[in-house]
Amino acid sequence: MLTTKDAIQQRRSIRKFKSYPVPDEVIFELLDAARLAPSGSNAQPWRFKIVQDNETKERLAKAAYDQFFIAEAPVVIVCCADISGYLSGVVSGLQDLGRIGAVEDRIVNIVLDRTDRMQKMSFDQFSQRIAFNVAIAIEHIALRALDFGLGTCWVRVFDEEAIRAIFGWDETVSVVALLPVGYPGESPAPRKRQPIEEILID
Ligand SMILES: Cc1cc2nc3c(=O)[nH]c(=O)nc-3n(C[C@H](O)[C@H](O)[C@H](O)COP(=O)(O)O)c2cc1C
Repeated sequence: MLTTKDAIQQRRSIRKFKSYPVPDEVIFELLDAARLAPSGSNAQPWRFKIVQDNETKERLAKAAYDQFFIAEAPVVIVCCADISGYLSGVVSGLQDLGRIGAVEDRIVNIVLDRTDRMQKMSFDQFSQRIAFNVAIAIEHIALRALDFGLGTCWVRVFDEEAIRAIFGWDETVSVVALLPVGYPGESPAPRKRQPIEEILID
């Protein structure tokens, strides 16, 4: 059994996959890891589309500027943010947190005030605010995948409009990342990282 530290150290971006399918129970476990992620006001704005058919995977790879390794993976998780339901998710999440006493009324009011201001933001700014919540859930999936010997790769270089068009989604679905998932066909060495001294600010 891997520890969290093992998973963090062993994870790599995998861009070559074996063709073996990923069992449904395993996909379920990955989604379970995603839904347990923390989110601001516990709004849980993540939504996931599981893609396993070759034609759609190829269209996704094309929409990601021909990053064809995406289509090689047996599963591609299209990781999205639900824009339309976000504010009501914040309000109901906050109310719950206030009710159980996890968050003080004072903080609930500050967040509600910010929520009012968010309504005046541009669509792009608003989407970005929501997206970082989804990012946490995606990384939960990437780390949990290691428990099943699976590899993943975050993909954010894509034409979002082209992806929405594949599924017939409107702008209320913001595509945060594609996550190809499969059994690794490569075992890359660790990629370069900054030492701790360089990531500290004086
Ligand atoms: C937000 C984000 C976007 C990324 N987009 C892509 C991408 O479009 N294509 C790709 O091949 N890798 C992509 N990557 C993977 C990075 O290149 C990779 O994480 C980095 O080089 C470090 O390597 P490692 O993940 O193996 O440690 C992305 C990673 C992140 C976190």
